Amino acid sequence: MDKVYLLKKLEQEIVDNKNLPLKSNLVFGEGNPDGEVIFIGEAPGAIEDEQKRPFVGRSGQLLRKLIRQIGWKEEDVYITNIVKRRPPQNRDPEPEEIEKYKPYLTRQIEIINPKIIVPLGRFAMNFFLPNAKITRDQGKLFSAKGGSASVGKARNWFVAPMFHPAAALRAPIMMQEFEKSFKKLPAMLKKLTN
Ligand code: URA
Repeated sequence: MDKVYLLKKLEQEIVDNKNLPLKSNLVFGEGNPDGEVIFIGEAPGAIEDEQKRPFVGRSGQLLRKLIRQIGWKEEDVYITNIVKRRPPQNRDPEPEEIEKYKPYLTRQIEIINPKIIVPLGRFAMNFFLPNAKITRDQGKLFSAKGGSASVGKARNWFVAPMFHPAAALRAPIMMQEFEKSFKKLPAMLKKLTN
């Protein structure tokens, strides 16, 4: 089935689900539905809410710059968030919000079927790797069980957690680590596609 159609249908399901928390604009995600890499943040901020696009503010500019620096194109990857609407005052998403949006992210990943999932920051990382620690585990490649376990489709996902770009913008030491980890991505992808 056509991935563009399936993603549109999934987006419409989110629109139609009036029980979902948060009432700001829906920021579903964007990029190549056949992308080999998916970047996942925690939730949209003010600019993302305004433009209805993920990672278009300061953090997003850094993320997109690094994608280009490793020789990839923004249009070749897919970019989204766990929670698809902005929490008020940019507070952290609450566990219940993550829980409610979780099935949609899972299905979005299943449709795109990327080779590598790159969660940005600890919220996104813990979605895939509940026991991982961001400072210890960012920049490493993990295999995690994911997918719609309830319908018997659980499969292995390859997950490479990174710092959130906002954290990198706050401290030079984090920026160095973030850039260093990011540069490993092409080799990780190559290893998984060979
Ligand atoms: N931070 C996120 O986690 N996601 C965005 O889309 C923007 C900022």
